[in-house]
Amino acid sequence: MVDSINIQVEQSPDSRLSQVDFNNLKFGQILSDHMLVASYDKGSWQSVRILPYGNLPLSPATSALHYGQAIFEGIKAYKFEDDRVSIFRPDKNYERFNKSAVRLEMPEVPEEIFIDGLAKLIDLDRNWVPSTPGASLYIRPFMFGTEAALGVHPSASYQFIIITSPVGAYYNKPLRVKVEIEYTRAAEGGVGFSKNAGNYALSLYPTRIAQQEGYDQLIWTDAKEHKYVEEAGTANLVFKVGDTLITPSAETILHGVTRRSIIELARHWGYKAEERKVTVQELLEGIENGTVTEAFAAGTAATLTPISVIGFDGKDYTLPDPDNREFSNRVLAYLSDLRYGRIEDPFGWNYVIG
Ligand code: COI
Repeated sequence: MVDSINIQVEQSPDSRLSQVDFNNLKFGQILSDHMLVASYDKGSWQSVRILPYGNLPLSPATSALHYGQAIFEGIKAYKFEDDRVSIFRPDKNYERFNKSAVRLEMPEVPEEIFIDGLAKLIDLDRNWVPSTPGASLYIRPFMFGTEAALGVHPSASYQFIIITSPVGAYYNKPLRVKVEIEYTRAAEGGVGFSKNAGNYALSLYPTRIAQQEGYDQLIWTDAKEHKYVEEAGTANLVFKVGDTLITPSAETILHGVTRRSIIELARHWGYKAEERKVTVQELLEGIENGTVTEAFAAGTAATLTPISVIGFDGKDYTLPDPDNREFSNRVLAYLSDLRYGRIEDPFGWNYVIG
């Protein structure tokens, strides 16, 4: 085991910070100066180092490249007006990461490496956390099997790495989404709840088809009947039906931290909030008869992105103007105020590293 938290730090000799245009950040294109790299071998975590960001030496036989033992997380750090840096609910991502690890037959990562390592890395690269409005530092912890072997078995060795990237919005306009009823993201008993690389690879082909049809993203439906709405692949889904917030619930979807926070806030504010199965039919009828007044994608990268149009079977169903959506706008404003430290944090969601 790693002896408590012994993280060696090798500082980058040349910072790339001065080359960054913080007023024009795209998602995930610029990587910060440092990364954390932890190695697992022979049944235990061997070393944890913070190094200058750089390429990894990999064998072409690296098992993750062949058999897909690769999982990740998405977390964001925010800069307060007084220059302190805060990470939003990293404990939830930590829990989910280890659930993904267990399902993919990978070792769990100790809290001392995931949480303390994260805090140390962000503290070192704190000047990379943007202070520009709406921007944040996206944190990408990931782990993959590194054994150089071609037999199908759990890798004997792994690397757990954290890289970070100053980002703006993932989506910069309301989404047109297509209900997908031909292809499937996840089936019961599968890996839909885990954040593994394969779940994203399989989405690319159906998403491209939807984009050629004029949509931005998909709404995945259940594998058996394509009758129930699941998630958007890049984010979870939330709908406002009458005075109730509804989010699809299933083992096949990713249990998002943003989605959870929004549902907790809705309940705290006295809204009814339900996590349950939602049929495509219920959703489309609700848009047509005016009971579904809001729909949005919720995720770390997506934050809260309004859905403007839902396409199904060649027909587009248009939702009310995002500017007039009472709950979405309220919750987005509240979460921004909380994350940037402009208001009290009554739930203890900000992990302030100082
Ligand atoms: C996240 O929201 O952190 C994700 O991993 C989604 C991905 C599309 C960037």
